[in-house]
Amino acid sequence: MAPETNLSDPDSGHRMHLEPLKTPLRAGDCQHLVALLTDCVDSGAALGFLAPLAVDEARDYWLAAASKAATGDRVILVARESAAGPIVGSAQIVFETKANGRHRAEVQKVMVLSTRRRRGIARQLMAEVETLARTRERRLLFLDTSEGSPGARAFYERIGYIYAGGIPGYALEPDGSPAKNAIYYKELTG
Ligand SMILES: CC(C)(COP(=O)(O)OP(=O)(O)OC[C@H]1O[C@@H](n2cnc3c(N)ncnc32)[C@H](O)[C@@H]1OP(=O)(O)O)[C@@H](O)C(=O)NCCC(=O)NCCS
Repeated sequence: MAPETNLSDPDSGHRMHLEPLKTPLRAGDCQHLVALLTDCVDSGAALGFLAPLAVDEARDYWLAAASKAATGDRVILVARESAAGPIVGSAQIVFETKANGRHRAEVQKVMVLSTRRRRGIARQLMAEVETLARTRERRLLFLDTSEGSPGARAFYERIGYIYAGGIPGYALEPDGSPAKNAIYYKELTG
């Protein structure tokens, strides 16, 4: 992937600037990512955290994720509305390193600022995730979300992910209540 690409979504007409997060993490990017993650978690998104999400916890998460991305086994994509604008969306792809799993990759932490939703941003991020997967010859993508996240589930199903099932009580919702997860996969063909 080029350091930065402009992708346009024919369905939305909003052209986003997508790029892999630069590492080491820059202060401005970190600030945007902290704001993005806290916005999503505090509005109920199942992203691995409890609400309210403290700024320090969010910052620690992004610093650790950026360190992992520096190894090359993870790409953190970020979306901006203009080349120098704030980050309004993000998605990650984690390439399996086990010898028997190098055909697969996990999609993690797909999120869009709540004020920027339904503009095709996540769709563009996921299209780029698929491009990255193909580049690394990963033909099986998988992810999980919460069964209680109808918007996320509708999104993944809309872009071709297949529901594989869920584990009762797998994780806590941001409000602390136990929830079944919803596991999805997509086989890349062609
Ligand atoms: C799920 C999420 C990433 C979708 O981001 P988005 O940028 O709004 O999604 P898009 O605009 O690309 O949506 C593409 C299509 O998916 C479907 N979709 C997206 N959000 C939906 C929702 N809330 N309800 C129903 N369908 C939805 C629609 O078909 C949509 O097309 P349309 O707007 O033309 O009808 C966003 O709602 C989000 O950040 N949620 C909180 C974080 C989260 O739950 N992440 C997933 C867990 S890892």
